Amino acid sequence: MKVLESEFAQRFIRMCDDGYHRGWHERNGGNLSYRMIQEEVEQVKDDLSFTGDWHEIGTEVPSLKDEYFLVKCTGAYMMNMARKPEECMGIIRLDHEGKKYQIVWGMHNGMKPTSELPSHLMNLEVVKARTNGKYRVVYHCHPVNVIALTFVLPLTDKAFTHELWEMATECPIVFPAGIGVVPWMVPGGKEIAVATSKLMKTYDVAIWAHHGIFVTGPDFDTTWGLIDTVEKSAEILVKVRSMTDKKRQTITDEDFKKLEEPFHVKFNPEFLK
Ligand code: 13P
Ligand code: ZN
Repeated sequence: MKVLESEFAQRFIRMCDDGYHRGWHERNGGNLSYRMIQEEVEQVKDDLSFTGDWHEIGTEVPSLKDEYFLVKCTGAYMMNMARKPEECMGIIRLDHEGKKYQIVWGMHNGMKPTSELPSHLMNLEVVKARTNGKYRVVYHCHPVNVIALTFVLPLTDKAFTHELWEMATECPIVFPAGIGVVPWMVPGGKEIAVATSKLMKTYDVAIWAHHGIFVTGPDFDTTWGLIDTVEKSAEILVKVRSMTDKKRQTITDEDFKKLEEPFHVKFNPEFLK
């Protein structure tokens, strides 16, 4: 089967397109990665080429050795993903140590993996271990309301988690572990990847102050649903704060606790006052 005929590639393209239409991908902003299932690799194997050079990842991800990933290219616009997929994305495989990658499909015209490859792979490594291999998707985008809040709220996991939980009843159910926050850092290297992947040991969501957000999940739908929920909650918070600096009423911590039993979730108690 051709890569572009596969379900995973089509779903990847749709997510990029959806994110672009939501306004989360100005210019080349944002990126997406997907850790392929072994059967998917077999399905498209005849369409792959194993003659390319090996390149340093810029970090080490030993527990992802020999695995295959579909990733966005650096500099590629999400806007163009559906029209020029072979230029805007590609499949890489890792070497036996998890230190180098080889491009085996796509990335035409000299394109290379996203500059956030260290963050994507380190996050994928951490969440693979945390979920016994279930999580496969990592998505990074630049949503307006989440970014705006990083100028206003204290840059703590507790402040972001509690404020965003409060904005809609489904929020604590969708991200019960909470949200991690990385202070402003230089993007695109190992340092920010280490800081983000440390948070991903606990959370499915990590906010990069004054930059954007990383989310992770088992599949494209769940990962999309997560960022959609977080950004909607951020939008409500921006609106509430634009109207008043004091809420008249809200969902209380006692209310949150009442959600645990019927929805089979356990909230991180550190984030309740
Ligand atoms: P890339 O074009 O390298 O994917 O970078 C976009 C981005 O959002 C960097 O944080
Ligand atoms: Zn970014």
